Amino acid sequence: MRLARSRDDLFGMLERLYGQRGDYEAFRGKLMTALRKAWEARPEDLKWLDLARDLEPDWFQREGQVGYVFYIDRFAGTLKGVLDRLDYLEDLGVTYVHFMPCLKPRKGDSDGGYSVADYRSINPAYGTMQEFEEVAAALRARGISVCIDMVLNHTAREHAWARKARKGDARYRDYYLTFETDKLPRAYEEYLVEVFPDTAPGSFSYDADMGRWVWTTFNTHQWDLNWANPAVFLEMVEVMLYLANRGAEVLRLDAVAFMWKRLGTRCQSEPEVHMILQALRAACRIAAPAVIHLEEAIVSPGEMIPYLGAGEHTGKEGNLAYHNSLMVQFWSALAARDTALMTHVMRTHFPPVVQNATYATYIRCHDDIGWAVTDEDAAAVGLSGPAHRAFLSEFYEGGFPGSFAKGALFQVNEETGDKRISGSFASLAGLEAALEAGDVRGVDLAIDRILTGHALIASYGGIPLIYMGDELGLLNDYGYADVPAHAHDSRWVHRPAMDWEAAAGAAAEGTGVAARIHRGVRQIMAARARLAPLHGGNATLVQDTGSRALFAFTREAPAGAVLCLFNFTEGWHSVSADWCRDNGVRLFRDGLSGSGVETGNGRVALPPYARLWLM
Ligand code: GLC
Repeated sequence: MRLARSRDDLFGMLERLYGQRGDYEAFRGKLMTALRKAWEARPEDLKWLDLARDLEPDWFQREGQVGYVFYIDRFAGTLKGVLDRLDYLEDLGVTYVHFMPCLKPRKGDSDGGYSVADYRSINPAYGTMQEFEEVAAALRARGISVCIDMVLNHTAREHAWARKARKGDARYRDYYLTFETDKLPRAYEEYLVEVFPDTAPGSFSYDADMGRWVWTTFNTHQWDLNWANPAVFLEMVEVMLYLANRGAEVLRLDAVAFMWKRLGTRCQSEPEVHMILQALRAACRIAAPAVIHLEEAIVSPGEMIPYLGAGEHTGKEGNLAYHNSLMVQFWSALAARDTALMTHVMRTHFPPVVQNATYATYIRCHDDIGWAVTDEDAAAVGLSGPAHRAFLSEFYEGGFPGSFAKGALFQVNEETGDKRISGSFASLAGLEAALEAGDVRGVDLAIDRILTGHALIASYGGIPLIYMGDELGLLNDYGYADVPAHAHDSRWVHRPAMDWEAAAGAAAEGTGVAARIHRGVRQIMAARARLAPLHGGNATLVQDTGSRALFAFTREAPAGAVLCLFNFTEGWHSVSADWCRDNGVRLFRDGLSGSGVETGNGRVALPPYARLWLM
């Protein structure tokens, strides 16, 4: 029945991608065999989970979902170590954990594990595949789903396929995009955007072993796969189902925008990318339906929604995709004390609902922040795109006069003037500078910025992803500069080790900074789980408050709306009670704090960095 349900979604796409090839029928047969084999090998308990998820297909949109993202070694030492931290996760309200890249990477610099040498082994520094299964089962027993990275765009240069390609095996050479001379690479490069212009300029590398050029969008050791070759599709489906059968419930499909190349384009978000992603989705729905896909496409606002399924792919592509724009706009509004751009972008580019999908909302992650603000959007609210982007970089690096932030530059592109930013949530939000200066009010403001960010991602719609340590206000970790494999990559500044002492202090109901933040985040996530209107399937309507200090949206549910209000400044502001009523407020009770809200003078007051969820 599941095959019947998804057959057209799968083969409809594959026929268009590969149907012209002489080997298409043989490929189709091999794929069917792979699906059947994976289903036969699927453990009984996961088949029950498949059934449960088919019966509640909105499970990942539920208001109780809360994500937590960590590096296994930095959080728990080893995979087994995670078992000692289950209470901590549960106490925080976590229902989903993303193990940052945990498959076997190449030796040396592996781009934080995104240069995978073997998709079927766990990084030996963390543990074994059997331990992964045990830990995933233990988490599942607590109602926590495991998300792991599935790097689709490239493998490590040391992966078995690439090794064979380097030895001259034509079959495997065709798994990658290689060129005899640099003529075509140069032609492609006319239109490509460099991802790591500083440390890995260009998008191609010459491989001396092979005597050929190879497409390397990211680092030289990350070889782009040739998705025009159906053998690559087949291999990856087998890997995905293998990992699904080990207990992964969410597959984070990495760097998907880059999967299809077309001369004369940026080679990002080409239509074929969405065909492949729909087909991969359908394959999982047939043989491992409990599994959902999180698509990582860090693209401009207008380019993002298709990763959750648009047009012919509606309801059939990613179940989750990172809401990169919400993240960028949070930081932009915070620096500028102005929400006009945020309101404009969120209204213009994002529909109130998406089908069979929802966002992965976040404020910080393991990557840098790129200022994905288009010139058109900036102009629409009277800003210059280049000037605003430059301002944001200066502000978050810390150099802009009056800035509260401490960050580090990442990949300065001299050609475009583009400067990306690294830094932990707390340091970018002002905690580091305020602590250093002994500025008590500055500390209070920073804590409020951090909590407002968490309240935003907990209510906007989607699974809020807490990035490990942000719930304790962990600061930048400058020690990365002493680690040879990390020193060139400032993203390590915001990948600190977990501070279990601070966590213990927080649990003991302490009054320190970490305890205050932890308590706040826990309260926000608990409040979220109690509020049915925050279900990801309900509409998110961005509202105009008439004030450039405030950001507001309503979450529309059949049983009543919630009006979520955020003050992005350190000043006091207010909205009229009538305006709130017009936007569905009946109770003037804050769903976040559980308290009643005063409407003296017919207005609702919003203190510095206030967050209110009005019922
Ligand atoms: C994704 C990851 C990033 C990595 C890149 C290449 O964007 O989030 O950390 O560098 O893919 O795999």
